[in-house]
Amino acid sequence: MSTQDCVVALDISTTASKALVLGADGRVLGLASSPHAISSPYPLWSEQEPADWLQAAQESLCRVLAENQITPARIQAIGLTGQMHGLVLLDQHENVLRPAMLWNDGRSAKQCDAIRDALGLARLVALTGNDAFTGFTAPKLLWVRDHEPDVYERINSVLLPKDFVRLKLTGTYATDKAGAGGTLLLDLPSRDWSYEVLSALDIPRGWLPPTNEGLGVTGVVSHAVSKATGLREGTPVVAGAGDQAAQATGVGAVCPDIWALTLGTSGVVFAPSSVPATDALGRAHAFPHAVPGMWHMMGVMLSAAGSLEWYRNTLASEVALAALLEEAGRAPPGCDGLVFLPYLTGERTPHADPLALGAFVGLTPRHSRGHITRAVLEGVAFGLRDNLELLMEAGLPPPREIRISGGGAKSPLWRQILADVLQMDLHVVEVTEGAALGAALLAGAGAGLWPSVEAACQAVVSTCALNSPSSNSACYEMQYERFRDLYPRLRPYFAARP
Ligand code: XUL
Repeated sequence: MSTQDCVVALDISTTASKALVLGADGRVLGLASSPHAISSPYPLWSEQEPADWLQAAQESLCRVLAENQITPARIQAIGLTGQMHGLVLLDQHENVLRPAMLWNDGRSAKQCDAIRDALGLARLVALTGNDAFTGFTAPKLLWVRDHEPDVYERINSVLLPKDFVRLKLTGTYATDKAGAGGTLLLDLPSRDWSYEVLSALDIPRGWLPPTNEGLGVTGVVSHAVSKATGLREGTPVVAGAGDQAAQATGVGAVCPDIWALTLGTSGVVFAPSSVPATDALGRAHAFPHAVPGMWHMMGVMLSAAGSLEWYRNTLASEVALAALLEEAGRAPPGCDGLVFLPYLTGERTPHADPLALGAFVGLTPRHSRGHITRAVLEGVAFGLRDNLELLMEAGLPPPREIRISGGGAKSPLWRQILADVLQMDLHVVEVTEGAALGAALLAGAGAGLWPSVEAACQAVVSTCALNSPSSNSACYEMQYERFRDLYPRLRPYFAARP
């Protein structure tokens, strides 16, 4: 290994495709990001054009290398990560058959019912570890079968978003086991495709790529890509992982007693496990981890920092975020009874309900903007508490440490509210782009820069601050009970939405 060695991660996220360069000394040497649009032509639909990912990934890659004077010969491996669950359909000539259907697409509720009917919920959970959620890949594939039969009959392969980029980089069809878990077609204990699920849903095995552990080499940069990007032909491309397993790796949550909490657009509580643990009713997700031989359970709320972003853009766009948060800091904990339900884009866990809606409940003329902003922060914290409780109810031993990251975790106020609501110490990990860093660590371990994923995390990841529960916890306990009470009461109203 030379001190000049580095690895590159490509992160095909929902909002942008990013490229990160990590040096063998563990320093991030550069990061570039190119945005892509998301389209929602009908209610509940969420789609992107795979070609946009390719273009954005190439732009980011070329920019990060040029701006940081990284010569391609230094790059020992490339790791991939990105949005999970997305459905990319290709014909036999590798042409994209329709726009990709994303993880937050909620149109396939009927197909989720059909999957439960085909296997029975208990068998589905025993095999895959999961119930059927609308965001997962398999229900969306069945939606195409039911609504676009002309597309369905031309399918030759089914890929996840980052694996489409992998195909174009290397010419190889492959995926990672963590990402494969999110399709609902994986047998959780054996970490490979489930013939029973595939045959119950009548999905050909040949449509799916081979599955790989996170640090496994899946192919090498092709001649054509080398010519277009300047990358060295033959550079190994490792499997990497779906963004949540990569994010957990990027914050060092690679053993059962360190959990990760991510406050990004979505909010995630991620618990590594050395066994394929599940919730009996499949209410929490259970997938392989990016670490060979490990699994994880997680709770995913769909609008976490996304709720605050919506609120600010819609109701307070003229106010700087810092000023808005400062006002919220002056409002009392519990917001004088005002509760926010963060189900703006439906919900995944613990309420698998694409029709759930956001709500402010308990407004009075006494409530100021500071109260309302604070209610958003608290409502998201309560949603994350629901998910923490869900993982504990599933029987996971409580963590020794929770590591918090993501855009929302930059706010000390929000972190403190979370520590109070969750009644847990929260260790802050100062990572920009945790998922990309995780994919870079997997690439580094795959290329032998570090002997294992755990060793890579130990060498690179550190925590920088701590938030501990304060005396506000007692007040939040009461407010959390009111929050919990609201979803079941409002559910009939959500279900009857026009
Ligand atoms: C995880 C999930 C999201 C997406 C987009 O289950 O749906 O994290 O991967 O980031």
